[in-house]
Amino acid sequence: MQAKNQEEKKDFLKEVVSFIQEQGFIWGPSPEIYGGFAGFYTYGPFGKLLKNRIEESVRRTFFSEGMREIECPTVLPDIVWKASGHLETFSDRTIECSKCHAEFNPNKLIEENHDISADSLSEEEILAFIKKNRIFCPSCKGALKEEISSKSLMMKTKVAGSDASLRPETATTTYLPFPMLNNLFRKKLPFGVFQIGKAYRNEISPRQHLLRCREFTQAEGQVFIDPKEKNIWEKYQQIKSVKLPFWSSESQKKGISVKPVAVEEAIKSKLISSQAYGWCIWLAYTQFANFGIPPERIRLRQHHPEEKAFYAQDAWDIEVRLDTFGWTELCGVHDRTDYDLKQHAKFSSQKLEAQRENGEKFIPHILEIAFGTDRPTFALMDIFYTKKEKEQGKTMFKVPYHMAPVDVSVFPLMKKPELTALARKLKAQLEKEFIVDYDESGSIGKRYLRSACVGTPYAITIDYDSIEKGDATIRDRDTEDQVRLPLQDMADTLRMLQAREITFSGLKKLD
Ligand code: GAP
Repeated sequence: MQAKNQEEKKDFLKEVVSFIQEQGFIWGPSPEIYGGFAGFYTYGPFGKLLKNRIEESVRRTFFSEGMREIECPTVLPDIVWKASGHLETFSDRTIECSKCHAEFNPNKLIEENHDISADSLSEEEILAFIKKNRIFCPSCKGALKEEISSKSLMMKTKVAGSDASLRPETATTTYLPFPMLNNLFRKKLPFGVFQIGKAYRNEISPRQHLLRCREFTQAEGQVFIDPKEKNIWEKYQQIKSVKLPFWSSESQKKGISVKPVAVEEAIKSKLISSQAYGWCIWLAYTQFANFGIPPERIRLRQHHPEEKAFYAQDAWDIEVRLDTFGWTELCGVHDRTDYDLKQHAKFSSQKLEAQRENGEKFIPHILEIAFGTDRPTFALMDIFYTKKEKEQGKTMFKVPYHMAPVDVSVFPLMKKPELTALARKLKAQLEKEFIVDYDESGSIGKRYLRSACVGTPYAITIDYDSIEKGDATIRDRDTEDQVRLPLQDMADTLRMLQAREITFSGLKKLD
C-alpha cells in the first residue's frame, strides 16, 4: 500500500480512532465523564487483550535470550533522578500561542502537518520552518510566539513531604538493584534483565492518541556487559550476515533512502559500534517481524548527534510506517556505556562494579532495547484495520492470527435452548485454554461480521447436526472457508492451527 499524504492521514486517523473506540479497544482521553485528561487512555477489553499479546511476545523474546524479568517501584526519590540526569536534562521544546497561551511541542506541530522528521532541526530552523509554512496554534489559530523554550517532562510528586518523581522510563529503576542482580547472576557478565511496566512523562500537549501518552507502558531490556567484551559476542555469529534496513544519520541528511546492509558490514563501516550492540538492534528488529508487521514498513533510523538522549553514546530507533502518523519510533536501542552505573555510584556512594577473572574491577556498560507497548498496539490497529467495500459496510481487523485479541468465537446457530446449551458447553471447554467470545444475538451473518471486526481468526457454529452428530463448523476469518469437525477435536485443532502445524486449507482437504 502506498504511503498516505497528510490529508489522507488525518482522515484515516479519524476513521481508525472511531473504529477502535466503537469496538472496545481504546477509550479516551480518560476519564470521559469528566471531559477527559489529555494523554491518559483506557484499554477496553479487546485493546487490553491485544496489548497483552504484544507484551507476551516481547516477554517470550527476552526470555528466549536468557534474560530475566524484574519489577521495580514507579515512584522514586528525586536523588535518583538527579543522579540519572533526568531532573536537569529530560525536557522537550515548547512553543507558546501568543493569543490563548496554550503550549505545544514545535517538533510535533511540524510533523503533524509536514512529512518530515523535525528532531534534527535546530531551534532557529524550527522557528523559520513554522514561519515559512504558516503554522498556527491548533487550538485558536492564533500566531505562535517566535521563541522556543524547554519544559521538563518529569512528573513530580511528594512522598511523606519529600520530593519524588514518577519514573519516566523503566530503565533507570532496573539499574538500581545492580549489586543484587550481579550476585544473583553469580558475578558473571554479560547478563540481561528486563521490566514491563508503567512510565510517566509530562508530555507537552499530547495529541497523538496512544503514541504520546502521559502514562504508558514500556518493555525495556538491559544487557550488562564488560566493555572489553562488546566485540566478543557469541550470538553475533548467527546474525552477522542478516541484512537490516539501516538508515544512517548521514543518509538522512543527504536525503539518501534506506539501504539494507548486513550487520557485519554495518560494523565494518563503523555505522554501529560493536557486535553486541548490533545484535541488540537485530533483536529489536526481529521483534517487529514477530508482531507480524510487514518488513517494508520497518526501518532502523540512527539518531543525529544533536538528537541523542543525554545517556546514549549510540542510538538507533526502530521506526514503523503508520497510515495515520507516518514513520513513527516504536523502540529505541541505546548504548548507554557506563554512564548510569557511574552516576548512581557517585550519588549513592556505593561501588557499582563487576570483576574480571584476573581480579580487575570495572564498571559494566549497559546496552538497552527500549520497547514501548502502547505504540505497537496502536500500530497493529493502524496497519491491519481494513474497511472493505463501503456499500457492504464491512469493517475488518485483519491482524495476524497469532496476535488476535480473541482466539475463537462460539455461536449457536439460533437462540434455541438445545443449541445454546451445547454451544455454552463447548465455550466452557475451550475457555480452559483459549480466549473465547460467545455470542448468541442477531443473525449468524452479523455475528461473523462482529467477530471479524475485532480480528478473531476462527468462528465455530453449533447447529442441529451438532446435536445429532457431535460436530460443528469452524470458519476461517479471511477466506470465509468452513470445515466440519468433531467437537472433541476442536481444542486440538485450534492448538495446531495456532502452532502452525496445520493450515486451514489443509483442514479443508481432510473434510
Ligand atoms: N529507556 C530509554 C527510553 O525510555 P525512549 O526512546 O524515550 O527511550 C522508549 O522510549 C519507548 O517508549 C519508545 O520507543 C516508545 O515506544 C515508548 N514511549 C516513549 N514515550 C512515550 C509516550 N509518551 N507515549 C507512549 N509511548 C512512549
